[in-house]
Amino acid sequence: SSVREFKFNVVMKTANRLCSSKPIVTVNGRSPGPTLHVREDDTVLVKVVNHVKYNVSIHWHGIRQLRTGWADGPAYITQCPIQPGQSYVYNFTITGQRGTLLWHAHILWLRATVHGAIVILPKRGVPYPFPAPHKEVVVILGEWWKSDTEAVINQALKSGLAPNVSDAHTINGHPGPVSSCSQQGGFTLPVDSGKTYMLRIINAALNEELFFKIAGHQMKVVEVDAVYTKPFKTTTILIAPGQTTNVLVKAYRGTGKYLVAASPFMDSPIAIDNMTATATLHYSGTLSNSATTLTSTPPKNATPVASSFIDSLRSLNSNKYPAKVPLKVDHSLLFTVGLGINPCSTCVNGSRVVADINNVSFVMPTTALLQAHFFKLSGVFTSDFPGNPPVAFNYTGTPPTNLGTMTGTRLYRLPYNSTVQVVLQDTGIIAPENHPIHLHGFNFFAVGRGLGNFNSKKDTKKFNLVDPVERNTIGVPSGGWTAIRFRADNPGVWFLHCHLEVHTSWGLKMAFVVDNGKGPSESLLPPPSDLPKC
Ligand code: C2O
Repeated sequence: SSVREFKFNVVMKTANRLCSSKPIVTVNGRSPGPTLHVREDDTVLVKVVNHVKYNVSIHWHGIRQLRTGWADGPAYITQCPIQPGQSYVYNFTITGQRGTLLWHAHILWLRATVHGAIVILPKRGVPYPFPAPHKEVVVILGEWWKSDTEAVINQALKSGLAPNVSDAHTINGHPGPVSSCSQQGGFTLPVDSGKTYMLRIINAALNEELFFKIAGHQMKVVEVDAVYTKPFKTTTILIAPGQTTNVLVKAYRGTGKYLVAASPFMDSPIAIDNMTATATLHYSGTLSNSATTLTSTPPKNATPVASSFIDSLRSLNSNKYPAKVPLKVDHSLLFTVGLGINPCSTCVNGSRVVADINNVSFVMPTTALLQAHFFKLSGVFTSDFPGNPPVAFNYTGTPPTNLGTMTGTRLYRLPYNSTVQVVLQDTGIIAPENHPIHLHGFNFFAVGRGLGNFNSKKDTKKFNLVDPVERNTIGVPSGGWTAIRFRADNPGVWFLHCHLEVHTSWGLKMAFVVDNGKGPSESLLPPPSDLPKC
């Protein structure tokens, strides 16, 4: 193992997309920013220097951060933000993980442009559990906003209305030749016939789950969220914001140019950015003026396509990479996740859209929760987050009557090393919508999934406790539920939230506190001396 050092200069840079240019917040002048190339067991030091007028913090999405919660990154959860002119060194070791993850800003909506890939190679000399590809390529899916994203969300929170949507999706930063303004600059993936490529696909978009397809080629899924899966072939993958998927693509066609497309998945009628981003798979030796083969993309409400992809995902669960699913559960929690409406006298309609978990719309504190926990500061949070909905939940397809939410900075305490099951039940209160829920500090096993109400007696029996997929971000289906299990083996304060940024902004978030306070192995290490102050 080695120590790898990186420097992230957060700077403004003028970018040009869709016929117009605007200054954006970037890392080292690029968006997507630099890829962290590291290996399992490496210690990573990233010095982030803030040269912009916004507060900044960076999250290493999916990195376990075992006992290094101070380096996790969500602003006001594990650290105060890095203020303009200040810097902070994120210091963490990659333990027991290899694969693709992402890093992104974790404050307001800055991650729209501040994000990049984390590529963790296996330990030296350890092969992949599949034939080594000829080449590996990072493919980052994102969004382009003509307007300033910070202004978009601030305006929405003030008015109580839903925010605008992005103006285009992007593949490695470019919408591709889909609009008359973007003939140039689409991403091209050059391939040689007969060779196999591994695409490390990342969804860094703020607000949209995406389908990803390559015309004329199948993809073999081998890993999600930096955990190996049982390989399976598919023509379409589904990827939610925060998720990563590694696929093998065999370039067997000999010659030609093939369209690569990222198109939105949203099974509700609410407004989304409908634009399909495209890129090109280009066989060497093909004349550049030859036509691109077109592919059809799934319609945006193609729930069956989405479900069949999700149902195909299984942990590899080999001798070398066993799935360590908790079989016995110490804490059984039921969390309703959804949108609601609260009265608001200053808002446009006299009400505002809010989002909640178990009817609690989370209020961000003004100092970091992890510091409050570690230094036992009182008055920052309470430990009374409800483990079950306060009003028994019954999804009938029509909106339940308990639309109101309470507010609070309420956390749930888990004893170190206890096992936890959380059933995430979508409420579909306003419009049915998938919620990609992300848990910091842990991977979890997705042991079950269904439509309608979760039925503890019936549904628990059908759980897959053998080879469920292990990941850090999971979609809770519209009007349905997902059950996850994990072991609380990482002391700290760990954020759980919807990775659709608009829902997080509306309050669809909470945090767990994990600690026995019983000595070094069960507690957190002290904070680094340069930890930012609020
Ligand atoms: Cu990728 Cu809390 O986020």
